[in-house]
Amino acid sequence: MTNLMLILLSDNIVYVVLFSRSFAYLTIKDRTPQILTKVIDTLHRHKNEFFEKHGEEGTEAGKKAISLLSKLRNELQTDKPIVPLVEKFVDTDIWNQYLEYQQSLMKESDGKPRWFHSPWLFVECYMYRRIHEALTQSPPIDDFDVFKELKEQNFFESQESIISLCTYLQELMRTIEELDEDQLKNEFFKFLQISLWGNKCDLSLSGGETSSQKNDLISSLEDLKPFILVNDMERLWSLLSKKTREKASVRVDIVLDNSGFELTTDLVLADFLLSSKLATEIHFYGKRIPWFVSDTTIHDFNWLIEQVKHSNHKWVAKCGVDWENCVKMSRLVYHDHIFWTLPHEYCAMSQVAPDLYAELQKADLILFKGDLNYRKLTGDRKWAFTIPFHQALSDFHPAPLCSIRTLKAEIQVGLQPGQGEELAASEPSWLTSGNLFYLQTFVLHLTCGMDGRKHKIEEDEADGIWRNG
Ligand code: F6P
Ligand code: MG
Repeated sequence: MTNLMLILLSDNIVYVVLFSRSFAYLTIKDRTPQILTKVIDTLHRHKNEFFEKHGEEGTEAGKKAISLLSKLRNELQTDKPIVPLVEKFVDTDIWNQYLEYQQSLMKESDGKPRWFHSPWLFVECYMYRRIHEALTQSPPIDDFDVFKELKEQNFFESQESIISLCTYLQELMRTIEELDEDQLKNEFFKFLQISLWGNKCDLSLSGGETSSQKNDLISSLEDLKPFILVNDMERLWSLLSKKTREKASVRVDIVLDNSGFELTTDLVLADFLLSSKLATEIHFYGKRIPWFVSDTTIHDFNWLIEQVKHSNHKWVAKCGVDWENCVKMSRLVYHDHIFWTLPHEYCAMSQVAPDLYAELQKADLILFKGDLNYRKLTGDRKWAFTIPFHQALSDFHPAPLCSIRTLKAEIQVGLQPGQGEELAASEPSWLTSGNLFYLQTFVLHLTCGMDGRKHKIEEDEADGIWRNG
């Protein structure tokens, strides 16, 4: 029996692409070639721009990138072996070591990991890393972000929602000092849910098709509430309000996901936390390279604040000015780290990126946004639905942490006994059909896990909060 087969048969197995009819399989078979085709089209459409900027060299670079990406699409569609990265970049060696590790798991077959015979998380990350490699191999267009247009379109198409969000925030600011504890908690819950729903707008699930927020979210929050599967907002409130009482400075870290509307909801949440004094500093983490179509890079972060600042709408523009000031005063801090675009699950962070792990340890609370972060937190494994979140984290616990994610993949933990079965009975294919409408629209997950085998954990009897002892 091959090692791969053993992996497939063991408990808490990692999702592998070849699980037939699985979402993983559909993603690699249909969605990723579709995304690659869109990337190639984008390069074609920009060929004049490359020429205007760089002359003939730009045209040739565009052609080279297109040919490398067409080759990549062919390798994927014909299930070719996964090949090492060739272009020297800061993470090339780590990637190639990881590939060797995958290879070591397959020693008894033909010894080569292939697109449809490898862990889903690895293959999907590898595809985005190869897109980046195709660009870095094509100077002078090597800094061209092939997903930039889509991210910007998502922002522009969500304008109405952005206006209503910023207006709501700015009106709240006028009375925020006068709110009593219950009112403040109520507002905190609203901004958390807005940030949760903002995660519906990712562009990799839709294969690069438009996925913006066109409705007024604030007025829909009550109707959407029943769709939250695990709701730990009360525990989050207890944790933060307690920290605020105990400490002069409270730091909340947000591991970002998508740019555009989702990033706006995260900035609005951050602004609320600072203005309400629930936090004194917010640290954001984005991606070093373009990733999973819509994920936030430093360029997207700066671009979005600039757009908001120059809006014609006075409350939106006010938000932009405030956010820019907060960045200048280091109340909002942006970090990136190459670890976020590696294929590793987060329980490997302390070994692979100890500096990043140490940075996260400084937080009083870490919010992880989105589905991909959830998959990496839980190791992309087929856990029983009832496994507690802290157990699925497999010892990853730099600080109290919470996942805020709309459900877009088959991984789900922390449910009550029978809850998964009940959902399956009402919609038999709730996790396995790859029915994107269902996955994207109805099932949501907000959970809070604070765990530790290394740290001594004690349960605070008064409010049920887990804390590091
Ligand atoms: O394609 C895999 C996946 O993780 C999906 O499950 C989801 O469509 C997407 O990538 C990323 O979602 P998010 O932007 O929420 O991380
Ligand atoms: Mg994303």
